[in-house]
Amino acid sequence: MSNLDIAAENPYFDQARSAALVNGRMGEQTPERLREIMTVLVNHLHAAIKEAEITEEEWMAGIRFLTDVGHMCTDWRQEFILLSDVLGVSMLVDAVSNERPEAATANTVLGPFYVQNSPHYPNGHNICLDGKGEPLVISGRVVDEAGRPVAGAEVDVWQTNDEGFYDVQQKGIQPDYNLRGVFTTDEQGEYWLKSVKPRHYPIPHDGPVGRLLTALGRHPNRPAHIHFIVRGEGFQTVTTHIFAPDCPFLASDPVFGVKKSLIADFRRVEDQALAEKYGLAAPFWHVEWDFVLVAA
Ligand code: BEZ
Ligand code: FE
Repeated sequence: MSNLDIAAENPYFDQARSAALVNGRMGEQTPERLREIMTVLVNHLHAAIKEAEITEEEWMAGIRFLTDVGHMCTDWRQEFILLSDVLGVSMLVDAVSNERPEAATANTVLGPFYVQNSPHYPNGHNICLDGKGEPLVISGRVVDEAGRPVAGAEVDVWQTNDEGFYDVQQKGIQPDYNLRGVFTTDEQGEYWLKSVKPRHYPIPHDGPVGRLLTALGRHPNRPAHIHFIVRGEGFQTVTTHIFAPDCPFLASDPVFGVKKSLIADFRRVEDQALAEKYGLAAPFWHVEWDFVLVAA
């Protein structure tokens, strides 16, 4: 029997038919996709309440929690996205809606610290504007799935300093646009830049999502990473990170953003001649990282 038939046969509430009754109320003009999504959501919500035998007090606590999440949102703080992140939903929606070939650079969460219109720099520029931290060279290529260079691709990069803060979290302490910038690949698809080794840091955890993490016995620390958005003409834009392999939080990222293919090799270089080639003093860190783009 369809939900419509169930609701028509007996329109009054009872526990056994609760979800079918709600879904049977949808009008004929309801767009098909909305009908599909709402039917699944209502079915699962009703099933969860029945399975966990949620009490009125517990349901009110849930409503208060969601209300707090809403109150925490401002132009700068999106607590609902943070909630989606820590529930693994942001990563899941991305996986379901953006199927990518195995060989392509994997995507991961954007996060709240991206800034549009970062400065454009020539290759080799140092994005660390305050000279603090352990020097790091990031170099590599942007290629297509066949390994051919993608010239003129934009490599938009941002990261924390060595204390685990983004510039936007420390206005007046870090210079504006510290540790962020946009680089462009040359004819060989190559890019390179100087930076510093990033550090792990907590996601914003002074709100309801932070309280939820604490209640669940979870920590808020994202493993040390560097963010990238790579854009090439005629290619799908990829939003991704690279992760430092030695970070103690690698296996317990609160937002589930780590993918095995995104764990990079941060090599410590002692060779003074090599350091001079990059205009640095040894020792420094070096990550070689290629991005593989998929045709649009
Ligand atoms: C970030 O890596 O910047 C981030 C991602 C998701 C939630 C919070 C921060
Ligand atoms: Fe981040």
